[in-house]
Amino acid sequence: MTSVTEPKKIILVKPAHVYYTHADLESAHAFLLDFGFAEEKRVGSKIYYRGYGPDPFVYCASQGDKTEFGGVAFVVESEDDLKLASQTIPGASEIYTLEDAPGGGKCVTFKDPVDGFPFHLVWGQKERAGKREVDEKDELPNGNPLHLTFNFPEDKQRPAGKFQRFKKAPAPVYKLGHVGVCVTDFPKTFEFYTSRFNFYPSDLLHKPDSKEYFNTFCRLDRGSELVDHHCFFFFEGPKYHVHHSSFETHDFDTQVLGHDWLRHKGYENCWGVGRHIMGSQIFDYWFDPSKFILEHYVDGDLLDNTYPTQKKAASHDGIHDLTFQQDSWTERNFGLEVNIVDVIGNFRLKIINQKKKTIFRNSVN
Ligand SMILES: [Fe+2]
Repeated sequence: MTSVTEPKKIILVKPAHVYYTHADLESAHAFLLDFGFAEEKRVGSKIYYRGYGPDPFVYCASQGDKTEFGGVAFVVESEDDLKLASQTIPGASEIYTLEDAPGGGKCVTFKDPVDGFPFHLVWGQKERAGKREVDEKDELPNGNPLHLTFNFPEDKQRPAGKFQRFKKAPAPVYKLGHVGVCVTDFPKTFEFYTSRFNFYPSDLLHKPDSKEYFNTFCRLDRGSELVDHHCFFFFEGPKYHVHHSSFETHDFDTQVLGHDWLRHKGYENCWGVGRHIMGSQIFDYWFDPSKFILEHYVDGDLLDNTYPTQKKAASHDGIHDLTFQQDSWTERNFGLEVNIVDVIGNFRLKIINQKKKTIFRNSVN
């Protein structure tokens, strides 16, 4: 029986889409196409973008006076979950219909109780039928191969005469994988999202010099169903901001070709390509023209509810195994507020600043 102190949880199924408002929508639109989204629908000053997966849209961009993050939406399991959210989350909206959004559906919006960013819950969206086109054609939307096989030194998987040829093209987005935010009160944020929803911490990080937790990578508890290692992460910092939104693309070749495409278009790389430790995904972070960070990823870990929370100290070595790009953004732009080093808070910054001081000392000696 559910007690007063343990309210019934709102059950989430998967991340659905994100909302961003851009002061310069035209530039944002050009970037989003180069990043690998496909325009699905325009309504007034709003553009809905989809990937090639079943979700009717994964990104909604609006023109506005102010550039800002409009929140993430998660699909809930049933209409009852929407009702529960509407009735029990302080300040939550009534259930409303997604009038102009591709796929329709119903929604409840609430504001994060600590930092006030919008958070959306959707149910009843109609999935895209178009995904079948990719399967039928047996190729990705950019014309590159859908089914790949790899020849390892002692395990040759590709038969004679079967070639793998790729064209230079944007890396097509499949789905929204995760969203990260910097929050100002980690314990309160953690308590809210893990008690009201089926968010479950895959990793919980404390500061290196204390047992104070400040960062978590949460997955969804879906029982024995396999889910992504994380779909929502948050860490404590001095000021709320969205850290990044991450979109899954098909494979490593596609990802690297997409990296090359964005580089040649003159966009600013943030960090990558490299491989993370928590989640294992191969990452590639980019700044859009409004300075929001978007990630392409492939090959992330899957977990079920048998895997317990990993509690550990944050460290630079815990973030990535390898970054293939030497002159990475993190090394060139230390000290800026919107920085990938936020992921492990000030610890990394401290190391970089020490390094900077050492370099400076060496250069003047
Ligand atoms: Fe990420």
